[in-house]
Amino acid sequence: MQQTTNKILVTGGAGYIGSHTVVALVEQGFDVVVLDNFSNSQPESISRIEQITGVKLDVVNADVRDEIALQRVFELHQFDAVIHFAGLKAVGESVDQPLRYYHNNVQGALQLLRVMGDGNCKKIVFSSSATVYGDPSSVPITESFALNATNPYGHSKLMVETLLRDISSSDADWQVSILRYFNPVSAHSSGLIGEDPNGIPNNLMPYISQVAVGRLACLSIYGDDYDTVDGTGVRDYIHVADLASAHIKALQALAPGHGCQAYNIGTGRGYSVLEMVKAFEAASGQTIKYKIAPRRIGDIASCYADTSKSARELGWTAEHDLNGMMQDLWHWQSNNPNGYS
Ligand code: NAD
Ligand code: WQD
Repeated sequence: MQQTTNKILVTGGAGYIGSHTVVALVEQGFDVVVLDNFSNSQPESISRIEQITGVKLDVVNADVRDEIALQRVFELHQFDAVIHFAGLKAVGESVDQPLRYYHNNVQGALQLLRVMGDGNCKKIVFSSSATVYGDPSSVPITESFALNATNPYGHSKLMVETLLRDISSSDADWQVSILRYFNPVSAHSSGLIGEDPNGIPNNLMPYISQVAVGRLACLSIYGDDYDTVDGTGVRDYIHVADLASAHIKALQALAPGHGCQAYNIGTGRGYSVLEMVKAFEAASGQTIKYKIAPRRIGDIASCYADTSKSARELGWTAEHDLNGMMQDLWHWQSNNPNGYS
């Protein structure tokens, strides 16, 4: 396939979703530069990417808010597009440390967009989140649903979405895709890269896989009295490799006249917490000890995507099924019980 977009800056490329996307980009022949401050990732993830791809990566250890460092990167390279993953992502932490979240996520995006504009690089794919839909009035969720964040993390994503829409309205040269991820899970099929959260995981699947390797004793299931198939919360879990391929499609779909578009990136199908536990047990052969705990504040009953816009406009749909997600997750966690360390 002929590529019109070749040289890509990937901010946050050492992180969970970024590392998988960098692998996919390199495998598709893109020329990638990673910029990361390693505030929530390990240099080891870069070595693993290099091991998988056989390509030495160009990595800049810098903060996206560092104007001088960013300008220098744009002086050294003529980028065709940027994929902007760099940001903080823990909802609970954002409630405790709102300024840190706004500063990192909003100021980081502002700085990046300014330097991009100065360097006449006006194509960007931005990591947003289903969290921008808040508590949706119904499911499945389409991109035209009301946007209504309920915590500083979600607000920071909405602010950047607004920024992107505004710059695109003011200057038609900007070509922007906002990807609203649902619940990213699992790991690369090699078992070499995966999710390695700091401290005790907030998210369901890393918690389950750490129970499986004995790092954690017991999963707490937050609520079994929701109006769902079995009373536990329902989410749209998507394999991180499918997320990675969505970024490639999103880059390839950037073209004159694109403007600013948002896309749901999920599978379109929801699974309950208990269904996820059972599926993990079946794929791993491990038994997951769990107990029912009270509902977690801020949680909603059900959240899953209508993915027809991304299928229609990006030509992308998720390919991995639930069992595949669980097998790859177990491959990663059992090979790397302590993550990258
Ligand atoms: P991650 O923390 O694993 O990766 C983010 C990377 O960005 C890390 O390597 C971190 O060191 C880097 N970083 C953070 N702030 C930076 C800064 N100021 N300058 C340079 N580098 C910086 O997170 P992830 O799960 O890979 O998420 C990537 C993006 O996707 C984030 O923007 C996140 O908000 C968004 N997202 C994640 C999820 C999820 O559940 N994982 C869901 C929806 C959206
Ligand atoms: C999934 C389900 C929990 C942990 C969060 C962010 C969202 C996005 C993705 C960044 C829910 C239940 C969980 C546990 C449990 N991130 N659960 N025990 O809350 O859907 O989304 O991550 O953008 O913004 O809010 O994901 O994995 O935390 O929870 O029972 O120990 O698992 O109640 O039903 P969530 P999650």
